[in-house]
Amino acid sequence: MDYFEIESGSRLSGEISVYSAKNAVLPMMASTILTKNGTNVFRNIPNIADVRMMANVLRKLGADVDFDKDKHILSIDTENVNNFEAPYELVRKMRASFLVMGPLLARFGIARVSQPGGCAIGSRPIDQHIKGFSQLGAEICEEHGYTVARAKQLHGNVVYFDRPTHTGTENIMMSAVLADGTTKIINAAQDPEIADLAEMLNQMGAKITGAGTSIITIDGVNSLEAVDYTPIGDRLEASTYLFATICTGGEITVNNISPEHLNTVLFKIIEMNAKLELGENWIKLTASGCPRAVDIITDPYPGFATDVQPIIMAALCRADGTSVVWERIFENRFIHIMELQRLGANITISGDRATIVGVKQLEGAEIMASDIRAGAGLTIAALGANSKSVVRRVYHIDRGYQRLEERLSSLGAKIVRKTD
Ligand code: EPU
Repeated sequence: MDYFEIESGSRLSGEISVYSAKNAVLPMMASTILTKNGTNVFRNIPNIADVRMMANVLRKLGADVDFDKDKHILSIDTENVNNFEAPYELVRKMRASFLVMGPLLARFGIARVSQPGGCAIGSRPIDQHIKGFSQLGAEICEEHGYTVARAKQLHGNVVYFDRPTHTGTENIMMSAVLADGTTKIINAAQDPEIADLAEMLNQMGAKITGAGTSIITIDGVNSLEAVDYTPIGDRLEASTYLFATICTGGEITVNNISPEHLNTVLFKIIEMNAKLELGENWIKLTASGCPRAVDIITDPYPGFATDVQPIIMAALCRADGTSVVWERIFENRFIHIMELQRLGANITISGDRATIVGVKQLEGAEIMASDIRAGAGLTIAALGANSKSVVRRVYHIDRGYQRLEERLSSLGAKIVRKTD
C-alpha cells in the first residue's frame, strides 16, 4: 500500500493549474449514455481512480471508453450500450456510479443499479433521487440490494427536493432531458458543477435553463448529439493548494479556476488574514505568519462546502484563537479529527460541532486518510508540522487527486510517495 512521507519546513511557492472538476466529470461521463452515436470527448481530465472507476462502469454497460492519460483526454462512445445494470462490485467502490441511473432510464426505459449504501462520511441515502424518478413516471422497485427503475417514456413534471442534493439534481436533470414535456426541479442544488453539466447537455442539444440556481427548467427533446467539452476547473483541488499554502506560509497562484466558484471559501481565507488577488480564471494567495481563527458552517452551495471542511480545519489547527466548525451536511465527517489530534491539534467535538483551539506548532506523526478530503486535509496539516509525518491509506486521496504529492512537490513541498 502506498503512503506519503512528508518533511516539514517547506514554504509553498509558484503556479499550478487545476484539472477539470471530478464532480463535474463524473456526471458528464454518465450523461454520454444519453447520446446514441458519435464519440464524446472530454478534456483536461485528471487521471484519478474515480474517473477510471466510472470508465469501468460505462465499459460494463457496453460503452467504448478510451482514456489518454498523458493528454488528459477521455473519449466515450455509447452506441453499443446493451446492458442496463451497474453491479454491486463497482457501485460499492464509488457511490457516484449511481449517476448512470438517470441516463439509462431516459435512453432505454430501464436501469438496474446497486444501492450505494453508506460510506465513511455518512449514511448518504438516495431517497430524493428515487422520488424524482417516480415523479417523472418511473416505476421503482428494490430487488436484492438493487434499485430497478422502469418507464416506457418519462414525462416531465415538477420534482421537489426536501433538501438540495448534488448528484440527485444531476440524476434528475439527466433523466428529464429526454422526457416528454417540461420538468421543473425545485430546491435544486446550485453547485457550479451542476451548471456546467447543464451547459454540456445544452451543447448536446438539451434545453435546460436555471441550472446553478434553485429552480431548474428542462424542456424534453427527442435526441442528443455527442460533444467535445472541457469541464470547469476543480474548486476542491484549488482549495487544497490554497489552504496548503496557509499551512506552510508562502505565495502561490492557482490557474484554471473561476474565483466565483470559491466565493465563500475565499471570504474565509480573507478572514484568516491571507492576502488574495483574483483574476477571471486565477487566484493568487500570499500567506505569512499565523492565520486568524474563523468559524465555519457547512451548507449547500453557495454556503461553505462540506468538502472543504477537513481542508480548512488543517489550517485552523495552528490559527491564532479558537474556531468552531459546524458540519451540517454529513453526520460523520469528523473522522479526520482523531488524526489531527495525533499531530497535536487541540480539537474537541460536541455532536456536529468541533472546537479548535489553535496551537503554536503541530508535531509530525503517523496518520491515516479515511476519505478523499480527510486525506487531503491531513496531508496539508502534516506539511505545516515541525517534523516528519507519514500519511497512510493514500488510495483514498488518489480517488480525487492525480498524484497530489507530485503537485505539492511542484510548489516546493517535501513530500514523496512510498510503497510498503
Ligand atoms: N441526501 C438525502 N437524500 C438523498 C440525497 C442526499 O438525504 O437522496 C442528503 C445527504 O445524506 C447529505 C445531503 O443530502 O446529507 C447532501 O448530499 P448530496 O446528495 O448533495 O451529496 P452527493 O451528491 O452524494 C456530492 C459530491 C460529494 C460532496 C456532496 C456534498 C459528487 C460525485 N459527490 O455528493 O463529493 O461531498 O455532494 O457537496 O458530486 C468528494 O468529492 O470528496 C465528495 C464526497
